[in-house]
Amino acid sequence: MPTDRKSSIIPASNWFDSDERFDGLYPASSSSLMKRHWTPLQVATKAAQFLAAEKNVSILDIGSGVGKFCIAAAHFMPEAFYTGIEQRENLVEQANEAKKTLGSKNVDFIHGNFTKLNFKKFDHFYFFNSFYENFSFTENMDTEIEYSKELYEQYNYSLRMKLEQKPSGTRLATFHSTEDEIPENFLVVGTEMDNTLKFWIKL
Ligand SMILES: C[S@@+](CC[C@H](N)C(=O)[O-])C[C@H]1O[C@@H](n2cnc3c(N)ncnc32)[C@H](O)[C@@H]1O
Repeated sequence: MPTDRKSSIIPASNWFDSDERFDGLYPASSSSLMKRHWTPLQVATKAAQFLAAEKNVSILDIGSGVGKFCIAAAHFMPEAFYTGIEQRENLVEQANEAKKTLGSKNVDFIHGNFTKLNFKKFDHFYFFNSFYENFSFTENMDTEIEYSKELYEQYNYSLRMKLEQKPSGTRLATFHSTEDEIPENFLVVGTEMDNTLKFWIKL
């Protein structure tokens, strides 16, 4: 098994030394998408420090791709639990393979559309511009799913409604967000990485 070979050659913690090394956890088709579609390790660390400021919180990555944010956050801030929901089954499989290679305990991945997920059991949220692929001018990762402006609007509306129902104090970290998905009562409390990474708390 390639996974077992990987884990026996490189100690789990060394995979987090650099994005290039972490990239090696995935098949070439996914690692080539890494720069554009998956969260850099430095961003994952900063976002996790904000989201997991308290112990034992449950954090959801909305559109988790190959699981890079969840797996890195779970490594750098291990006293929280991280769940990723992802619509592409092949990416969920890759996320689970990477989780297995690293032996990550505090991470879970769900295959599905976030619109169908109950947000009740999650305390805080991470969002890396997941719906932007619905614009025709974006370089999409594949042709497996439908893209449309209507879906973009529908997803933003659905996420706004779900975040709207969360209690005061809920934290959200966004990376490269258009902010169309953010309810008005979430306030920016900090920014990093030239304003591309924003930290929000619900009033
Ligand atoms: C920019 S990638 C971010 C991946 C991951 N959060 C990270 O930071 O490494 C966005 C992901 O969101 C997923 N996505 C988009 N719309 C979704 C939806 N409605 N439900 C679940 N996943 C979705 C895409 O398939 C893609 O893998």
